[in-house]
Amino acid sequence: MPDRVIDLRSDTVTTPTDAMRRAMYEAELGDDVYGEDPSVNRLEQMSAERLGKEAALLLLSGTMGNLVGMLAQTRPGDEVIVGQHSHIFLNEAGGAAALGGIQLYPVPTTRGAIDPADVEGALRDPKNLHHPRSRLVCLENTANRDGGAAVSVGAMDTVAEVAHRRGLRVHIDGARIFNAAVALDVPVERLVQGADSVTFCLSKGLGCPMGSILAGDADYIQEARRWRKMVGGGLRQAGIIAAAGIVALEQMIDRMAEDHANAKRLAEGLNRLPGLTIDVDAVETNIIMLHFDEQRADPKAFVSGLRERGIKVGSPYGGRMRLVTHYQVSREDVDYVLKAAEQALGLVHA
Ligand SMILES: Cc1ncc(COP(=O)(O)O)c(C=O)c1O
Repeated sequence: MPDRVIDLRSDTVTTPTDAMRRAMYEAELGDDVYGEDPSVNRLEQMSAERLGKEAALLLLSGTMGNLVGMLAQTRPGDEVIVGQHSHIFLNEAGGAAALGGIQLYPVPTTRGAIDPADVEGALRDPKNLHHPRSRLVCLENTANRDGGAAVSVGAMDTVAEVAHRRGLRVHIDGARIFNAAVALDVPVERLVQGADSVTFCLSKGLGCPMGSILAGDADYIQEARRWRKMVGGGLRQAGIIAAAGIVALEQMIDRMAEDHANAKRLAEGLNRLPGLTIDVDAVETNIIMLHFDEQRADPKAFVSGLRERGIKVGSPYGGRMRLVTHYQVSREDVDYVLKAAEQALGLVHA
């Protein structure tokens, strides 16, 4: 692999910035299980304020945030309505079922949005003793499998309104909620206003080495703190992680617009190449879904051609492949990838 490596597999591959590394080195620390880590307390308070919620909790990962987030507002046998492409449904190892006795009810999504009629259609009859209890609706924003779609305030609000009217609570898997807020140009607080609980990841586009936040009202977060302990997530001097999170909230949000512009530039360039198709208008944030016309472009050869040129991409599946930009992919890197893509397709020679 050449010296220059450009990693487009995910925004989780980012390594901490110099400012984060300094902040981690200098972080004030204490035992967070006693509530005595000043850096964790500060990050949790900053996060709650940003999201317009009463309280917040630091967890180790987005998966743990969603799991604890669900456990703290359901009982075994309850049903949770989720998008059929959602991370909770597809990529969290069945944790809700295994650890919470929760049954997931998948409904269709269009560019991440759930049709309120599908929520209504999924509701169980609370008086019917044969039915599980519908307890929670989970939304995802941005919607990872739906190509990083930023789901609008209106689409989030209408589902929340139906859920609340029918006595359900609402959770947002906002692993990339700041990407959504930046792309939609709305305050993140407004975007999550209808939710009772919301998670976001520090370890994706925000560039931290690890960590996620769960936010909600104070009683709920107290309950979540207990569940976090039960799943082994009681943290001690976690300020070492929180310090990077504080830098992320202060310095890494507004710049996400660059990642989105780079994703658009990359999508436009790749879409011009024979055998590759991208719905460029659908690239709203930092995720690109590339489709292969396999008669003209062999996915395997394309991936290995890029890899020889120092570009890491995810494995193609079902004739498509995800590419993700982040703060360690510059505009120059995008231009380099576009040249390398032409070479990998055999259109020009290196
Ligand atoms: C939408 C979404 N939710 C949750 C997660 C889980 O985050 P983690 O990998 O930190 O567990 C991811 C990870 O990629 C994600 O894309």
